[in-house]
Amino acid sequence: MAGDSILSKFKKDEEAKAVDTSKKLRVGIIGTGWIAEAHIDSYKRMPDVEVVALADIIPGKAAAFAEKYGVPDAHIYGHHTEMLAAEELDAVSVCTYNMTHAECTIDCLNKGIPVLLEKPMCVTLDEAVAICKADKASDAVLSIGFQPRFDENMKMLKRIVQSGELGRIYYIQTGGGRRRGIPTPFGTSFIEKETAGIGALGDIGCYSLDMVLNSIGYPKPLTVSGYKSDFFGKSPDFPHHDKFGVDDFAAGFIRLEGDIILDFRIAWAMNLDTPGDTIIMGTKASVRVPSTECWNGSIGGPLVIYKEIAGEQVETIVPEKENEADCFDIKIRSFIDAVKEGGAAPVPSSEILYNQAIIDGISRSAELGREIEIVIPEI
Ligand SMILES: NC(=O)c1ccc[n+]([C@@H]2O[C@H](COP(=O)([O-])OP(=O)(O)OC[C@H]3O[C@@H](n4cnc5c(N)ncnc54)[C@H](O)[C@@H]3O)[C@@H](O)[C@H]2O)c1
Repeated sequence: MAGDSILSKFKKDEEAKAVDTSKKLRVGIIGTGWIAEAHIDSYKRMPDVEVVALADIIPGKAAAFAEKYGVPDAHIYGHHTEMLAAEELDAVSVCTYNMTHAECTIDCLNKGIPVLLEKPMCVTLDEAVAICKADKASDAVLSIGFQPRFDENMKMLKRIVQSGELGRIYYIQTGGGRRRGIPTPFGTSFIEKETAGIGALGDIGCYSLDMVLNSIGYPKPLTVSGYKSDFFGKSPDFPHHDKFGVDDFAAGFIRLEGDIILDFRIAWAMNLDTPGDTIIMGTKASVRVPSTECWNGSIGGPLVIYKEIAGEQVETIVPEKENEADCFDIKIRSFIDAVKEGGAAPVPSSEILYNQAIIDGISRSAELGREIEIVIPEI
């Protein structure tokens, strides 16, 4: 996931502004599972960062991680609260499974420690509101780990929408999925209710929601009619069906402020190649983002703009852009830069609150079997 391409970015950055290594930032990682590997890989390539503490509630896991990733001097803890009580940290990566995102993040923010929190932000809207309140009350930076935000093609999509070329946006379709791709490569924490809380809806659904909502400026969601199912995860053909406690498919029809319709569907498994491309329809033009086999924040081909010029129906293909560095590395670097420079959060919780409200709304509407209003308390 994390490549060494970030080095070239540093090289380029160093020409403009040398990285100040006079004081190394003392970083801690909470949760030393799969994604923590990508975090430590990035941190270890940064000359101004030192990973000094690791916490994992599974006995021996953080120590083995320290050994494997070449930080034998890092202090080892079990529960995250033990680490926070004992260490003076400049920043923390929260890399736990979804169900403990909120408590870990809020505990860090309450101690004034900046947090890079892995996606999805959390599980429920109540948790999202609690995170946003803690964020507002704290001086520390909180950034949510959406690396596709740093993809040049995603930035281009936002620029196209924000340019006004599409006119008034009135309908959006987004989502995606995998034909077979329930994630269990490193255990079952993605599929158990107690650890994940939500399935495809939160895991990959949050990315497609962020792609379109970020492009249009994150309008407030108002109502949702949601659906979710678990036919593939619960099937006896799936090896971990006895542990499966979340959704493997979800869909929602959401009304957004500004009279915009958002039609969304996401799958970890389905009898289909793709549930459709992402499309953003406007009164002057529309844009298509080709779907990928495994929707995780990439694009499946060049963006296409459809419009009418002088009475002709025309299409413009937007050339695909190369990223200067790995987006995961950029997400981590941008967080560290915000911490060092006292800058704004690269991916603020105030935006992802609406992403989480939609996820929560789809889930609750599906359970109730009817459309519901999305009510977001004042933060
Ligand atoms: N950005 C990405 O590309 C990406 C990719 C994969 C996973 N993720 C996200 O990262 C998160 C973690 O996924 P993973 O696959 O690494 O999970 P994992 O189950 O492999 O690791 C999570 C670890 O957190 C530990 N943990 C939980 N609560 C804790 C606490 N209070 N204190 C200390 N340790 C605690 C668990 O024991 C576990 O070892 C998920 O939310 C997932 O959505 C993001």
